[in-house]
Amino acid sequence: MMRGREILAVSVLFFGFLATISFAASVTYDHRALLIDGKRRVLISGSIHYPRSTPEMWPDLIQKSKDGGLDVIETYVFWNVHEPVRNQFNFEGRYDLVKFVKLVAEAGLYVHLRIGPYVCAEWNYGGFPLWLHFIPGIKFRTDNEPFKAEMQRFTAKIVDMMKQEKLYASQGGPIILSQIENEYGNIDSAFGPAAKTYINWAAKMAVSLDTGVPWVMCQQPDAPDPIINTCNGFYCDQFTPNSNNKPKMWTENWSGWFLSFGGAVPYRPVEDLAFAVARFFQLGGTFQNYYMYHGGTNFGRTSGGPFISTSYDYDAPLDEYGLLRQPKWGHLKDVHKAIKLCEEALIATEPTTTSLGPNLEATVYKTGSGSCSAFLANVDTSDKTVTFNGNSYNLPAWSVSILPDCKNVVLNTAKVNSVTVIPSFTHQSLVSDVAYSKAVSSVWSWIKEPVGISKKDAFVKSGLLEQINTTADKSDSLWYSLSTNIKGNEPFLEDGSQTILHVDSLGHVLHVFVNGKLAGSGAGESSGNAKVSVDIPITVVPGKNTIDLLSLTVGLYNYGAFYDLIGAGVTGPVKLKGQNGTTVDLSSQQWTYQIGLKGEELGLPSGSSSQWISQPNLPTNQPLIWYKTNFDPPAGNDPIAIDFTGMGKGEAWVNGQSIGRYWPTNVSPNSGCTDSCNYRGAYNSNKCLKNCAKPSQTLYHVPRSWVKSSGNTLVLFEEVGGDPTKIGFAIRKVGSLCSHVSESHPLPVDMWNTDSEALKKSGPILSLECPHPNQVISSIKFASFGTPHGTCGTFSHGQCSSSSALSIVQKACVGSKSCSIGVSINTFGDPCRGVKKSLAVEVSCT
Ligand code: GAL
Repeated sequence: MMRGREILAVSVLFFGFLATISFAASVTYDHRALLIDGKRRVLISGSIHYPRSTPEMWPDLIQKSKDGGLDVIETYVFWNVHEPVRNQFNFEGRYDLVKFVKLVAEAGLYVHLRIGPYVCAEWNYGGFPLWLHFIPGIKFRTDNEPFKAEMQRFTAKIVDMMKQEKLYASQGGPIILSQIENEYGNIDSAFGPAAKTYINWAAKMAVSLDTGVPWVMCQQPDAPDPIINTCNGFYCDQFTPNSNNKPKMWTENWSGWFLSFGGAVPYRPVEDLAFAVARFFQLGGTFQNYYMYHGGTNFGRTSGGPFISTSYDYDAPLDEYGLLRQPKWGHLKDVHKAIKLCEEALIATEPTTTSLGPNLEATVYKTGSGSCSAFLANVDTSDKTVTFNGNSYNLPAWSVSILPDCKNVVLNTAKVNSVTVIPSFTHQSLVSDVAYSKAVSSVWSWIKEPVGISKKDAFVKSGLLEQINTTADKSDSLWYSLSTNIKGNEPFLEDGSQTILHVDSLGHVLHVFVNGKLAGSGAGESSGNAKVSVDIPITVVPGKNTIDLLSLTVGLYNYGAFYDLIGAGVTGPVKLKGQNGTTVDLSSQQWTYQIGLKGEELGLPSGSSSQWISQPNLPTNQPLIWYKTNFDPPAGNDPIAIDFTGMGKGEAWVNGQSIGRYWPTNVSPNSGCTDSCNYRGAYNSNKCLKNCAKPSQTLYHVPRSWVKSSGNTLVLFEEVGGDPTKIGFAIRKVGSLCSHVSESHPLPVDMWNTDSEALKKSGPILSLECPHPNQVISSIKFASFGTPHGTCGTFSHGQCSSSSALSIVQKACVGSKSCSIGVSINTFGDPCRGVKKSLAVEVSCT
């Protein structure tokens, strides 16, 4: 049943939505904020990149963003998926930009459209189509006519599309802001004086497109008027725009960091993220965007690099699968509400900041009409007590307290009221029938990919070719093949097993086959060092020997000046080295080249072809094999992942759609991780890492909408060797739900406006709610009121603990979908006088 307040909320939402999309709004700015229809606004924004999820997921992602307190959804526009071939456009499916923007509008949210068209984004080639590289005389991102012509053509195309659909706010649509270029300021010095000419041109070009809404450039200190220069980073509170007429805006607040194959998994504690957000609004910011709010998945070959993983989870408030990441999502939602409670004061006046002691700052926003909001910050790494307006406040280390009335604390960024959810994955065999799964090898069929040259379009060139110029990125793979004659009297033959084949490659991955057999492999270390250099002991035979080098890219560079010119592949030298110091340089011989795989040409990713072999002797742990099976998805609507443990490296397709590159054998370093990262003190992308000494990524997202209820095809191309019968589904479920609230926590933000004195006096509240509508709290795994320690999953009783906590929590929660408990001695009695107490609870939902 709907309660009165909800009905009101729904009607407000409905009319709010009409106001957003059917009434033209003017968007301007002044030194404090963006103005929508003449009114300054405090706006909370979050990035969702439409191609990193499916259209079927979009409405839910957008709704969860709105529920989390966002006003704006930000996305880049990804040129290379829209124009894979020059003048041939694709705006279908995951690339349906107009649909995405309209869905955001339907939810009543605004859009920030970052056209770029250079986007970085850990996206293949930074978003540029590969054909751009082949335009004669072109130089990317500088004062170069061919480049500027293409950039202008694409930018204008996108702007026109949006205009035709009336999607700019000036036309009644949701787009209130657009970006041109991206973080050019980080690299522009490499381009000399031409950089300035280029950026001025880009600004003029963008403005001439007449969108009716402001343009921004991020990390561009010299962005020319009227373009607003904005900030990117983990913190932007100290940023000031380049003119007094521009507002302080933060286009990328990194909510976590990206994962690379071979790297550990980065995470950013919500206490630090919330602190960064609050500091920004404290010091005069009015627009803030989470990069990412939902990171999603790099399907197909869209990931940048090299070595960006297929998962682009980013530790974002919505996880890769679109599920709420708790307590991140919930705590940020509270932060957003707290900031919005201050909105009127924030937009009405200038902030006044005073020091309350070393690393302690109070900022007050006081309007003429007497309303007042304040932020109290402790930028120190130890807890402090401060006096403000005659009252005393405890400020935990590295935190901000928000006081919407300059007196009462509605929220402290380090005090998390929100639940924590620990996900668990249940594993299920790909083959549901158990009897059948015993004979599991028979459900896999296979085709061997030939070693070396097998396609008709192979060609011969003398010398070694750079890979990207050769393949134009049509495939990850390029074969370099050589047949060489070793004469009977060559010194190499004296002790054949001692011959070394030396290969130098710009990267990113290399498999070396000698006389048809895999002799060795190598992979670059990281995007900073993608080069491969191998010395492989080989055995040569008298007469003809074949050397087949399979070189693979793993996502093209997306960042840095001239990243397009770094190159990949076996540029040499390639040498044979004998024991006695003799070397033969093979680099300038006649090499035969093949772009891509035979299986790609045959269309094996779709599963079709009559050549699939289904026999009991399934080959495993051998290189270069295509595997295929049929599967039924796990029942229900929970997100699905495939666990690729047991496989080597390759790419996988479900019903013909690529779910991305898999590489579970690429393991992260065995040090540098910490399970409980101390959020106090400045964060950086290496500070909080987990999953050390484990595969960087074992689980690969299969969107629900890509599978039918039965008879789906899974195809893998395995390069190095693996056992596909080990592959299974992983279904993500909620394992445990926890919360830990202390007596000193503020009341829930929602109770700020409550009139009930009784409620206000009841003290902080611990609330739990099962995430699924049809679940209830089935058992209490832990409950302690007193001085419990640990975190969700590892709670333990402290010295002080109330003996009745478990039964009180059981009574309040078991059997209900949600429950709320007052965290005070009124509820539990006092197990230890004079000691600050807290309540920690862990429950399970079923
Ligand atoms: C920024 C860039 C984004 C993304 C981010 C790192 O520099 O603008 O596109 O690459 O870094 O995730």
